[in-house]
Amino acid sequence: MSTLPSLAGRHIVLGLSGGIACYKSAELVRELGRAGATVQVVMTEAAQAFITPVTMQALSGRPVATSQWDAREPNNMAHINLSREADAILVAPASADFIAKLAQGRADELLSLLCLARPLERCPLLLAPAMNREMWAHPATRRNVAQVVADGATLFGPDAGDQACGETGDGRMLEAEDIRDELIAFFQPKLLAGRKVLITAGPTFEAIDPVRGITNLSSGKMGFAIARAAQEAGAEVTLVAGPVHLPTPRHVRRIDVQSAQQMHDAVLPLAPAQQVFVATAAVADWRPASLAEHKIKKESGRSVPAFELTENPDILAAVARLPQRPYCVGFAAESGDLVKHAREKRIRKNVPLLVGNLGPATFGRDDNTLLLVDEQGEREIATADKLSLARTLVREIANRLTS
Ligand code: CTP
Repeated sequence: MSTLPSLAGRHIVLGLSGGIACYKSAELVRELGRAGATVQVVMTEAAQAFITPVTMQALSGRPVATSQWDAREPNNMAHINLSREADAILVAPASADFIAKLAQGRADELLSLLCLARPLERCPLLLAPAMNREMWAHPATRRNVAQVVADGATLFGPDAGDQACGETGDGRMLEAEDIRDELIAFFQPKLLAGRKVLITAGPTFEAIDPVRGITNLSSGKMGFAIARAAQEAGAEVTLVAGPVHLPTPRHVRRIDVQSAQQMHDAVLPLAPAQQVFVATAAVADWRPASLAEHKIKKESGRSVPAFELTENPDILAAVARLPQRPYCVGFAAESGDLVKHAREKRIRKNVPLLVGNLGPATFGRDDNTLLLVDEQGEREIATADKLSLARTLVREIANRLTS
């Protein structure tokens, strides 16, 4: 199973400047390590007032660099050595003062020095700002942030919310997992830059009465993974989700629905403006023909209720029929004879690409095996975790858009 963590092989210089958000950087080191990165921590003097190098060394497994005069470096050029090894320099927290120094190209301590000394073309500078909302909103900070971005830095956040000072507003550093996910996304190739992608995911719920309904075991994990992978690849992603309890991937617009009809009504108006439509939802084929206004009671002597069912709209087929249709990708969860069913379904739904998998064994699981069926034939994507599969699928879709 190919489950290489997303940051495997990446070496990150994690810089801490002074700010209360330094406490989150301890967790960030662990998150980056879990995602497969090696991390070299560099701390300014102000950062050491908030958290000690002892903590950061223990968590990163490497001595923390704190001085440009470190005689342990054979050439005594820590700023050159550190910035040449790094796949990226991530400064979290990036304080208002530190951003001001970067804007001016000052280099009077190790962290600002190595940011200035980094090879611009191969060592990106990523900043996770953290400061009080008044500092973030101050014209001097606005000016400095615009300057560092113009000079090539990328911002992660900040968020809005409660601040350590008791105030509420913009300037809060992202949480450790969010910074990790921003970093993972940063390294993904931007194969869908400028494209709009619409995805359906999860089951639908077809109400029988106010407390009961017909649904299925789809977890929505595959659709959510595709939404994340498409967003990482630079697409503007809208995710129409049936009832599932999954967190929304960062920067993805999510529309929650319950029934097939609601999913249809959310998707159809959006579809013509999209370049890609991926239908992963396990849409109920039928719904009760009528909805009981009140809960159906079990009264003694009364016969078992019988339901008449009526057919739901086929969302994928409806999108595929649009005159201005996006590139449509269907999914098929089958219980056997996958190749045959997937081929037939691709033709029947009139879509260029159909992705088959064997359900219900895959429902709710974190890994899967996919079969891609297009006009040329079939290709298997070997068993992997759903995010890896989603990234492979995004690559396959991007190739088909350009070819
Ligand atoms: N789909 C859809 N709307 C529906 C039913 C299915 O958009 N009302 C989409 C699914 O999201 C999936 C594809 O169509 O991408 C195939 O779904 P599936 O349920 O396997 O297809 P059916 O046409 O219902 O075929 P089957 O007879 O196997 O149930």
